[in-house]
Order: sequence, then structure tokens, then C-alpha cells
Amino acid sequence: MRKTLVAANWKMHGSKTFAEQLLAELNSGLESGKCSAQVVICPPYPYLGLVGEIASGLALGAQNLSEQASGAFTGEVSAEMLKDFGADYVIVGHSERRSLYGETSALVAEKFAAAKASGLVPMLCVGESLEERESGKALEVVAAQIQAVVELGLPDTWQNAVIAYEPVWAIGTGKTATPEQAQEVHRFIREQLGEAGEQVQILYGGSVKAGNAVELFAKPDIDGALVGGASLKAEEFIQICRAAD
Ligand code: G3P
Repeated sequence: MRKTLVAANWKMHGSKTFAEQLLAELNSGLESGKCSAQVVICPPYPYLGLVGEIASGLALGAQNLSEQASGAFTGEVSAEMLKDFGADYVIVGHSERRSLYGETSALVAEKFAAAKASGLVPMLCVGESLEERESGKALEVVAAQIQAVVELGLPDTWQNAVIAYEPVWAIGTGKTATPEQAQEVHRFIREQLGEAGEQVQILYGGSVKAGNAVELFAKPDIDGALVGGASLKAEEFIQICRAAD
């Protein structure tokens, strides 16, 4: 049975004060009530240490990493450095890194491998653009993004790995995929993963809110959410985390 996982992607938002206040509310809200989901907080790099220290019962994740282990790569952050701060998870291949920073599926696959090599759990983001969906290419695009990782031929590729299906047209737009649309792609992704697929948590991301999380999580192949905007609001994020209960 796959456990529900709800991850918060703060993107480039927050401050020390914001992190302290939000985590105090999350610690209180998630500890006091029932929350069967695993919860991961992915703040911007500078706040990893602070969040790791004050979060109670919540896992820590990063939003990116270098595919390099160490060296003359100014501005980059390695997997081992993330582990130094207590990170267990790392988002790889978020659509904003693919579209704004030119990350190709080949580079994303290398980042996936670097995360696995260090013992971090990569959360591999895949998803199609509105144009690709409207032209009927959504499954083809997602399959190619997954295949780039498969082609590395890593041992037990999908063990201790998470996939997040984030249709680009739903990110930050308020246009959430319907539970049926998401379930169709999640089922397809699971079939792409072969035997290992049954154990892999596949999250949905793209305008997840307290008002749609219960219906999304009720689908058999939706194992949780990767949440952007709503994760910056304590009460709404707590409701999303509890949606699986
Ligand atoms: O990584 C999650 C993010 O892309 C979704 O953003 O604001 O639509 O929940 P949002």
C-alpha cells in the first residue's frame, strides 16, 4: 500500500521570519490533528538549515541540485551538501527549471542519478504544456521525460524515487487538471515504470487546493501532491495534508 505524500514547493518565496511563522503553524496544526500523509517541506536553499531545525515530524527537501558531486561549478549545490542539512528529498526537473533554465530531460536524468547516488529521494517532475495537451501529445511527452531516466540503466531506478505529474498548464493558473485527467496520466506513468511501478508514489501537482485535494487523492493512482502556492498558507496546506485521512 503506497503512503500518501504531500510536498510543499515554496519556489522562490519566504524569509527567515516567514519560515519560522509558517513552520510553527504547521508543527502545531499537523501534530495536533490526525495526518496520515508523509509531509515534505522544500524551501529555497538558504532556509534548508532553519526549516530542518524547526520542522517537527516533517521531512526536508530541496528544489534542485547539481548533477555534479563537487568541483568548480560556481553557484551550484551538490547532493551531499543537501544531505548535510538533513534533506531527504529533492525535486528534479521542475517545469520551471526546464522552461526558464533550459534543463533538458538528459540533464534532469543526470540530476536524478546524482540524487539517488547520494541517498536522496528524487521527486522527478514530468508534465506537458497546454499546446502539447491540446495536440494530443500529453502521454508522448511524459513518456519521453521518463524514458530519459530509464535510459541511464540505473540499478533499481524507481526504488526510493517519487514522480510528480505536473501539467504545465495547471501550474500557478488555478486550472487544476480534473481528477480523471490526472488519474489517466498517473495510470499511464505507472505502466511505464514496469514492475517497480506499483510501489512508486506518483504525486499530482498544479493548482492543488484544499477544495480539490480530497477528490484528487481518492483516485487509485494519485498518491499525493506537490503543492506550490497553497503550501505558503498554513491552514490550507494542513487541509491538503489531511485530505488523505
Ligand atoms: O511544484 C509544484 C508547483 O509547480 C505547483 O504550483 O502553485 O500550481 O500549486 P501551484
